Amino acid sequence: MSLKNRQSIITAKSLTRIYAVGDSEVVGINNVDLEIAAGEIVVIKGNSGSGKSTLLSLLAGLDCPTQGELTVADHDLNQCSEAQLTRFRREVIGMVFQSFNLLPTLNVLENASLPALLAGKSLAESQNHAIDLLDWLGLKARLTHLPAQLSGGEMQRTAIARALVNDPAIILADEPTGNLDSRNGQIVINLLVKLNRKWGRTVMIATHSNLADSLATVKIYLKDGMITKHT
Ligand SMILES: Nc1ncnc2c1ncn2[C@@H]1O[C@H](COP(=O)(O)OP(=O)(O)O)[C@@H](O)[C@H]1O
Ligand SMILES: [Mg+2]
Repeated sequence: MSLKNRQSIITAKSLTRIYAVGDSEVVGINNVDLEIAAGEIVVIKGNSGSGKSTLLSLLAGLDCPTQGELTVADHDLNQCSEAQLTRFRREVIGMVFQSFNLLPTLNVLENASLPALLAGKSLAESQNHAIDLLDWLGLKARLTHLPAQLSGGEMQRTAIARALVNDPAIILADEPTGNLDSRNGQIVINLLVKLNRKWGRTVMIATHSNLADSLATVKIYLKDGMITKHT
């Protein structure tokens, strides 16, 4: 289906993030125009320092643009209050990071269910949903294990369950395979694609690995904070 026939879920116009470092300015991303339809699998490629993480942080509402417009899932991120941004991050976006970012003292089930509890769901509802997801991700036998007792692939699958527990429309994954061997990296990419196909979630993956190339429906190439190619 072409973009014209589908609702766009991300619209950025002249999106810019310049970092002030002492007296100098560092370009994060520069004048990026982007329109992504709901349900795409977007792969963002580019060398280290090209602006991939900056772009994902802006889309996630974790950082604010210095210039430009950004609408994500009908939220104008320039107009949101702090409280609205907190809800947006919790309910609209699921994030997956290279370093997993699990809480070391919480077990797999507690890590995965935490965002649902923070969103005000009951413990039973939060845990039941997390258990379904962890089961789907092949971690049912690991519910009471701590992150330190897991392999890298298992930690990343736990992080994916956590990212999904509030049923976000958009999953943003920043170098999700960066700390995994190629086999586990491929498993993680395949899971991100599967949840796109199963639930229609929009998935954006920033990576310099080739593992996701053949599965992307949209590819964006960044260089020095600018889009150089968009296919
Ligand atoms: N918090 C920050 N403060 C200053 N400069 C930053 C900050 N975050 C990123 N940058 C700079 O912005 C540019 C883009 O970085 P980043 O978005 O992390 O790229 P990538 O994820 O593609 O490696 C780099 O030059 C980087 O040094
Ligand atoms: Mg990065």
